[in-house]
Amino acid sequence: MEVGLSGKKVVVTGAARGIGREICIGFADNGAEVIGVDIIDLEETGAAVTAAGGSWYACTIDIGNPESVAEGCAWILSGHPRIDALVNNAALYGGLRMQPMEQIDLDEWDRVMSINVRGTFLMIRDLLPGLKVAAGKVVNISSGSALRGSPGLMHYVASKGAIIGMTRSLATELGAHNINVNAIAPGFVATDASKGLSEMYEKYMEMTIMAQSIKQPNNPADIVGTTLYLCSSWADAVTGQLCAVDYGLNKH
Ligand SMILES: NC(=O)c1ccc[n+]([C@@H]2O[C@H](COP(=O)([O-])OP(=O)(O)OC[C@H]3O[C@@H](n4cnc5c(N)ncnc54)[C@H](O)[C@@H]3O)[C@@H](O)[C@H]2O)c1
Repeated sequence: MEVGLSGKKVVVTGAARGIGREICIGFADNGAEVIGVDIIDLEETGAAVTAAGGSWYACTIDIGNPESVAEGCAWILSGHPRIDALVNNAALYGGLRMQPMEQIDLDEWDRVMSINVRGTFLMIRDLLPGLKVAAGKVVNISSGSALRGSPGLMHYVASKGAIIGMTRSLATELGAHNINVNAIAPGFVATDASKGLSEMYEKYMEMTIMAQSIKQPNNPADIVGTTLYLCSSWADAVTGQLCAVDYGLNKH
């Protein structure tokens, strides 16, 4: 499917694995130049993007650290003054364990918020000059758990709710620069990060599929089409929206 992304410069955070890696490959398949950001090794994603025929640039940033974001974004903008799309996919999700709310320690609460919420804000803020040049697109990866609620991950779910508020708010503000800001709410996606949440993973996945209109496992590749669409000119008139990509997972 050709979505008019050929030659576009796109930044994807959390590009090293899972959903972020699939998004990078999807962009490469459609001719975009991909700048992958992560705190961990990006080599495997780089190899996959290159194998798909895409241009690839790797940038190590800890989005939880404002200095790291400032330095990394300055490096990105020095080589790519025009940023056509920014996909904020990085989050503290892999490595979290489900736990009762009274056991969430304050350090973990702060880490989740500083990476998932503040980190997303910082990436948008520090790449804004490039997004303005291109009248670019921002796509923030939220989560359907922010709409449904989910036991055992209260801090994470709250952070994903904040992403929805940030998206709607920024859409109204950045519209003055013709920048579109939208969010995606995946359902429960079969990634290594999801598998590490609990020894009950298989059971949760089975229950999730039963609660969906279409009884299919939600795979990382499922998130790609909607992300690319929201980053393309086909979505020029779409902003401030939250798009669930979850096979119709019940929200109540
Ligand atoms: N898997 C799901 O069921 C699901 C559902 C809804 C939303 N999401 C969201 O989708 C996104 C990807 O999820 P995933 O399942 O692929 O998880 P994941 O944990 O595998 O991916 C997150 C990526 O972000 C990176 N990252 C973490 N902290 C970082 C930091 N400080 N700086 C830079 N990069 C950092 C990780 O290294 C990793 O590559 C996340 O935003 C997650 O919250 C996932």
